[in-house]
Amino acid sequence: MINTTDTTPKGDELFKNIISHCKEYGYIFPSSEIYDGLSAVYDYGQYGAELKKNIRDYWWKSMVQRHENIVGIDSAIFMHPTVWKASGHVDAFSDPLIDNKDSKKRYRADVLIEDAMAKIDAKIQKEVDKAKGRFGESFDEQQYRNTNPRVMEYQTKIDAIEARFKAALEANDLAEVKQIIVDLEIVCPVSGSRNWTDVRQFNLMFSTRMGSVSDDSDLIYLRPETAQGIFVNFLNVQKSGRMKIPFGIAQTGKAFRNEIVARQFIFRMREFEQMEMQYFVRPGEEMQWYNYWKEERMKWHRTLGFADSKHRFHDHLKLAHYANAACDIEYEFPFGFKELEGIHSRTDFDLKKHEEFSGKKLQYFDPELNENYTPYVVETSIGLDRMFLAILSNAYHEEKLEDGSDRVVLRLPDFLAPIKATVMPLVKKEGLPEKAREIMDVLTWDFNCQYDEKDSIGKRYRRQDAIGTPFCITVDHQTLEDNTVTIRYRDTMLQDRISADKISGIITEKVKLKKQE
Ligand code: GAP
Repeated sequence: MINTTDTTPKGDELFKNIISHCKEYGYIFPSSEIYDGLSAVYDYGQYGAELKKNIRDYWWKSMVQRHENIVGIDSAIFMHPTVWKASGHVDAFSDPLIDNKDSKKRYRADVLIEDAMAKIDAKIQKEVDKAKGRFGESFDEQQYRNTNPRVMEYQTKIDAIEARFKAALEANDLAEVKQIIVDLEIVCPVSGSRNWTDVRQFNLMFSTRMGSVSDDSDLIYLRPETAQGIFVNFLNVQKSGRMKIPFGIAQTGKAFRNEIVARQFIFRMREFEQMEMQYFVRPGEEMQWYNYWKEERMKWHRTLGFADSKHRFHDHLKLAHYANAACDIEYEFPFGFKELEGIHSRTDFDLKKHEEFSGKKLQYFDPELNENYTPYVVETSIGLDRMFLAILSNAYHEEKLEDGSDRVVLRLPDFLAPIKATVMPLVKKEGLPEKAREIMDVLTWDFNCQYDEKDSIGKRYRRQDAIGTPFCITVDHQTLEDNTVTIRYRDTMLQDRISADKISGIITEKVKLKKQE
């Protein structure tokens, strides 16, 4: 292993560097950039599209193909407008917004309050980190949190805000939500003033018209979640697939939300992609399955090479209109712990509502119980773009090497890397390019590979490190004599001389999906 010093910055600087890295290396571009972009909409570039596809495929493999009782569908984005009336989205899919009268900036009231709590939490963390440094090995964090007067005081403050906020949300008391903002002395980050409007509800669905004649056309919505496409196909899938409860229906696809505050890059977008699974269970068994899927999903995240401390559960303060239990799996992004995935026990709300609005029975006959019932549903719902950001933030590293030079490397899990191997002739002549292309031609049957002959070998390695390519194969004069190549590993930067016939086997072993479980 070549010695390196990790010089990766933290927090805002790290986040800024990741965003510019994404643009420079073809991962993510602002949408319609030549027209100055479109707020909170992004395009995935040549490497981003590959990484996103690999994450989606891995989710599909784990959730659909690795479960005998889960099947996948691909429903349309446009749905009958009554779907959204039935699901409650027309009436209740809204966020509380508040404007600052001086800056004219709009904020989500709940986010302002949550950010204020996060600031207090950061103070606790600072105290804990200081104490950790002081006490070293013998430090008992839980005991410290339970006994240190300053930490306890901060925690009491957070708990009090949380309780008050929860009560206000449950009572839909928007005046009280504003009062919390006033009492916490929250200022507008732009104007610095506390000159706030009242809090109002704002529906997040985009609408458009379907049909050529404007008078006759129907108002339809761009789906704000993929889940409803699963609910309305529940009976189609159950009957055609002879599915027995418990069983799941999964799908991945675009969702659209007119977010009030769309910021933080691909974390909160107006057009994004979800990977959702609805698990249909017997009424009364939903809590057992809710706990099961909580654990399963957390395991899935942890197998991807993240430190255990990077994820945590967060129970919802206010349950959505359809849920009787809900939590988030949060990830520690460069800007702090935020929701990555939601696990929701949605009861029989959706199927019952669709029965009511469509007039069609959406029930299941349980042969073991010899009775009909409306199944309960446990949902796992993850944003593909957020998962992409989590993986990228964890992979991004800046390093200083022994010789004083710097490199940026994406330590992506090998099986997710957009390019698995790059084949490079040492020089652009003397038969080396031809030999390199011959090797490449064999590899491209199994892996996404790149051919690179431009610039010095050192520069080429840096370019591949920055893209996250785990293996570089160099073809030199010895290759022409004995058919051996060097294989260079991204993370250690070490090289081995191997027979060209072995390349495929070595890479296959490293990128096997089976290895990930
Ligand atoms: N069907 C349930 C549902 O949609 P949600 O918590 O609103 O639940 C699920 O969304 C996941 O979708 C979130 O955990 C997040 O990863 C992702 N998501 C939601 N809004 C998003 C946005 N504006 N941009 C990117 N991802 C988003």
